[in-house]
Amino acid sequence: MKTIGVLTSGGDSPGMNAAIRACVRTGIYMGMKVHGIERGFEGLIEGEIKEMDVSSVSDILHRGGTVLRTARSDRFLTEEGFKRALNMLENFAIEGLVIIGDDGSMIGGQRLSEAGITVMIVPGTIDNDLAYTDFSVGFDTAVNTVLSSISNIRDTSSSHERSTVIEVMGRQCGDIALYSGVTGGAETILIPEVPVDINRVARKIIQGRNRGKLHNIIVKAEGVEIRSQELAEIIKERTGVDTKIVVLSYVQRGGSPTARDRLLASRTAFKAVELLKEDSTSKAVGINGNEIVAYDLLDAIRMKRDLDKTFLELADILSI
Ligand code: F6P
Repeated sequence: MKTIGVLTSGGDSPGMNAAIRACVRTGIYMGMKVHGIERGFEGLIEGEIKEMDVSSVSDILHRGGTVLRTARSDRFLTEEGFKRALNMLENFAIEGLVIIGDDGSMIGGQRLSEAGITVMIVPGTIDNDLAYTDFSVGFDTAVNTVLSSISNIRDTSSSHERSTVIEVMGRQCGDIALYSGVTGGAETILIPEVPVDINRVARKIIQGRNRGKLHNIIVKAEGVEIRSQELAEIIKERTGVDTKIVVLSYVQRGGSPTARDRLLASRTAFKAVELLKEDSTSKAVGINGNEIVAYDLLDAIRMKRDLDKTFLELADILSI
């Protein structure tokens, strides 16, 4: 393989720049030309493609977001858009593509793969919702950002003896809520995978208050069936405790990536480019334990994720 491309797609995540840097430098080191494609599949359709050199990725390792920018492309899903994307890859003689992105990016990648382009997926999403990999790039940073907010909120909640519902991202996957909730000492963690038990939420708050607790932290993922405002009103009604809501939203998607995310990005992107160099078939690269792994792309898409219930039990026991 002589020429490869790299793009970022879907919601951005801290560490995507570290992955871009690793792709470009590894590709050049291995004797290939590396093209950066801007604005994900949207930029591919429009031919927003430029050759990258070693210095074009200088000074980006520590930066959140993605220097290639990203998009959620509806046009790529149309026949016309897809055809244009394929033509662009041909125009620039791009034989292999590294896609740094989420589940939607994997599906887009599979379509390209079926059309003859070799695709490597580097998992980039704060949600950590990809079944084939233990962790995705950006998740650790997002959890640490949420954790720091929980600590701040806890201070003021104690002063005012309030309870606070902290809404974090995750439409289908509760990992950000689980990890930040356990490490932030939340009494209750609500995730989309488990139905809400309002009695239990109220009971925990009352039990806490009875033993002298001054604050209550409820971490709730955005995909949970009940809206945060409604939940806060119900808590207030059931417990008499003043309850506020904080929606962390995009705050948790930005920021300088943690060492863990930079490392994961660098290792998975290196592997992706190495596989392209070896003329491998399309793969999804991830991490299992501390080992970098690569699965057939279609197999990776079909994998299902199991909720690790021990996290919820742990949060429950540690917050009695
Ligand atoms: O997939 C990452 C994510 O941040 C989700 O947690 C969130 O639900 C979604 O993206 C928000 O998407 P958008 O950037 O399109 O508003």
